[in-house]
Amino acid sequence: MERQQIKTQWVKLDLQQENLAAAYVKELRQAADFLRQGQLVAFPTETVYGLGGNALDPASVGKIYAAKGRPSDNPLIVHVATKAQVAELAEVSPLAEGLIHAFCPGPLTLVLPKKAIVPKEVTGGLDTVAIRIPNHPVAMALLQQAGLPIAAPSANLSGKPSPTTGAHVYRDLAGRIAMVLDSGSAGVGLESTVLDVTGDTPVILRPGAVTLEHIRPYAPGVLLGGSRVGAKEVPKAPGMKYKHYAPNGQVKLYSAGELPAACQQAMASHSLETLAVMATDRVLRQLPLEINRFSLGAGDLETVAQRMFAGLRWCDQQQASLILAESFPEEGLGCAIMNRLKKAAYQEPAPK
Ligand code: TXA
Ligand code: MG
Repeated sequence: MERQQIKTQWVKLDLQQENLAAAYVKELRQAADFLRQGQLVAFPTETVYGLGGNALDPASVGKIYAAKGRPSDNPLIVHVATKAQVAELAEVSPLAEGLIHAFCPGPLTLVLPKKAIVPKEVTGGLDTVAIRIPNHPVAMALLQQAGLPIAAPSANLSGKPSPTTGAHVYRDLAGRIAMVLDSGSAGVGLESTVLDVTGDTPVILRPGAVTLEHIRPYAPGVLLGGSRVGAKEVPKAPGMKYKHYAPNGQVKLYSAGELPAACQQAMASHSLETLAVMATDRVLRQLPLEINRFSLGAGDLETVAQRMFAGLRWCDQQQASLILAESFPEEGLGCAIMNRLKKAAYQEPAPK
């Protein structure tokens, strides 16, 4: 059946404005009204753009899954403005309290035992809920204006790279949602760290900018979990069983040292227009000039993280069928970067 198109308002906000809430009073009120009416609004956070709906309203939550084309057993993150709101929605243990104090607002999502007020539609039927306090002036202004907890997955179509600009969101979701609040590039560029603190041992289900090393002083036993599981198993983070962040072309990963030779080899067996490379400038300088390239920056991991999803989208625009991407050491932020790159490179095993 043809999906009914709705008109999507695309509103630009300038983060240089000193008092954002005052400068965009009309726009933020409109966005908050949409949320209260059960409609969807995409908004920037310090990680990636989120697709927001009223977390306490099952019908709004249903619209989020429908707009993204997301399976409804993959639960959503609930965004709130204050620590007190976290406690309204979930049981906060002393460990969780310490982590909230250390990292929130910021790119850390905590999985906590949910309270009855959180509808099961948000949590995919689980009795836990993922919550975070975003550290972004637009997200914060929207949360305050709406006075609601906002359920928001990344604002991409399911299976596409997470959006790091308002234009990415508009391209994916125009005609499906009421509004896009666009303040340019999101900060970190990768989604928040998801940390499960419901068991005896805290487990990182999804690595992000708050790293294992950052968390360890507050939770010495913390483990890095979250390996991919088969479609029939019940995973700890339900999102893990779905294909993620995959461009249409095949992604292959090489270290900075291996990439120039891998590129020569690929050029011998593929036509130039079907090839693309994503790497840092030092590596790109060693490649033949005619190769299609996307720069991941000068080499610092912060810039790699910021540009990576835009790079994967760019590869699709180039219609590259083979994408050679630089890999990075899996420490600190490198762990989150490699988690996303490996998912982009993952190929379903051929059926037996
Ligand atoms: O940075 C972010 O986290 C962004 C921005 C918009 O805040 N949001 C985001 O949401 O990445 P989403 O829906 O794309 O990813 C949420 C992840 C999924 O892997 C999901 O399975 C996991 O969090 N998750 C959500 N609720 C959970 C729960 N109760 N238990 C375990 N994992 C959960
Ligand atoms: Mg997502």
